Amino acid sequence: MKKLYLTLLCVGSLWSAMAQNRVTVKADEGKVVINRHIYGHFAEHLGRCIYDGFYVGEGNTKIPNKNGVRLDVVEALKKMKIPNLRWPGGCFADTYHWKDGIGPKAQRPKIVNTWWGGVTEDNSFGTHDFLNMCKLLGTEPYLAGNVGSGTVQELSDWVQYVNFPKNSPMSNLRQKNGQQEPWNVRFWGVGNEAWGCGGNMTPDYYANIYRQYATFMNQTVGKDRIFRIASGANSSDLNWTETLMKNIPINMMEGVALHHYSVHSWDDGKKGSATEFSEADYVKTMKQALKMDEVIEKHAAIMDKYDPQKKVALVVDEWGGWYNVEPGTNPGFLYQQNTMRDAVLAGSTLNIFHKYAERVRMANLAQAVNVLQAVILTEGTKMLLTPTYHVLEMYNVHQDATLLPIDIKTGDYQFENEKLPAVSVSASRDKAGKTHISLVNIHAGQPQTVSVSLKGLKASGVTGRILTSGKMQDHNTFDNPTKVKPVAFSGAKLAGDELTVTLPPVSVVVLELQ
Ligand code: AHR
Repeated sequence: MKKLYLTLLCVGSLWSAMAQNRVTVKADEGKVVINRHIYGHFAEHLGRCIYDGFYVGEGNTKIPNKNGVRLDVVEALKKMKIPNLRWPGGCFADTYHWKDGIGPKAQRPKIVNTWWGGVTEDNSFGTHDFLNMCKLLGTEPYLAGNVGSGTVQELSDWVQYVNFPKNSPMSNLRQKNGQQEPWNVRFWGVGNEAWGCGGNMTPDYYANIYRQYATFMNQTVGKDRIFRIASGANSSDLNWTETLMKNIPINMMEGVALHHYSVHSWDDGKKGSATEFSEADYVKTMKQALKMDEVIEKHAAIMDKYDPQKKVALVVDEWGGWYNVEPGTNPGFLYQQNTMRDAVLAGSTLNIFHKYAERVRMANLAQAVNVLQAVILTEGTKMLLTPTYHVLEMYNVHQDATLLPIDIKTGDYQFENEKLPAVSVSASRDKAGKTHISLVNIHAGQPQTVSVSLKGLKASGVTGRILTSGKMQDHNTFDNPTKVKPVAFSGAKLAGDELTVTLPPVSVVVLELQ
């Protein structure tokens, strides 16, 4: 009797999971392109991101490098298809004076990194080092200018130094320092978190300051004006976006930023462990991560009021999970491990960015190496790829692909008093005509079956890859760097224009339809 009851219960819950997740992919209605720049990354002079992470010094004979830049990191990021890299901060950007980081390294001044651990910054990694590293990575640089403690002259000089092709004081200085041709940097941030570490400004004050800076950053790269990004709101601070959109003429800014982290609490030591967490912690993190949808929707609605033609991009230039630092590491270095929880967070967030692809045209995961939700961790000569790396690599098929609109009805993931959607889904068609569907099972306890109707698409087969692991706390370590890695997925069945996909709990899948 008990056995029969359990069998009926299993069949019942499987059936209800099947019935609850229904997706229609409107393959014949795609119009908007998913800008590859939403797959951007962030490298700050913070902890071991630059020093020890990207850059190990020209004299390093133990770690293979080019001009001091780790080649294992370069190779991994190229494989992931990193489209842009933001530098040098973050909070550090508003303390950074770019002239400290050019010219002979022995003569560069040493400064204190006041935001991040109070360590001495020797400026051995500066503008040339970063921009040449971007060339090596095949990625577009995104330079964050100093507004908080800099000047208009200083920032407009930086633009001239890196971009001006002809004879000028700054381009001559660049050439004297060994770089003949300009780097043609398109993306420029006008300060960072001006409401906080960038100067604790009010939105009205910053809007005025922005106009002043932007006036003197009016250069072009090729035919296009440089892409100026205003320092944006902290998560749900809608007043910040409203004030900027109201007070800055649309032709003076190409992007407005937004930062939203998935964090339990901003109090020190109360963010929870990156690896030792409960299901309740997981739900808390995912609730914050999924809030990105509502946050973007609200900021985008404000932008639509002032910019109905969507000329100005919403640039989510800091996002990701933020936990307590790993035990025994410098609290100012923000070094944290990365688990399947982060993989689910990344997959769901990228699906949200796709949904708003018309407005969200750039984003930067914080941060690339050894800091916060890193895609790469390093330790001496060793390097590992985190679960988050694998999601970004699997998802890179969506870069510059056409978003296919979807209708979605998902079941619930109910945990105690919280209710989250059980699955997250997105679809696109790439330039070669291949359709990709990314699916995330957010539910920590149950597999989810998703019924997908393919409208306007005749597919003959389906293949895919999955990232999952026995436990949501699973992660890669320097002793076991491939514990979590993508493998071939056989849980998708195609019958005519109906696809049935069964996702194990806490998993990320990317399918390709032939
Ligand atoms: O990414 C770490 C920090 O978080 C950045 O420096 C700052 O912009 C944000 O508060």
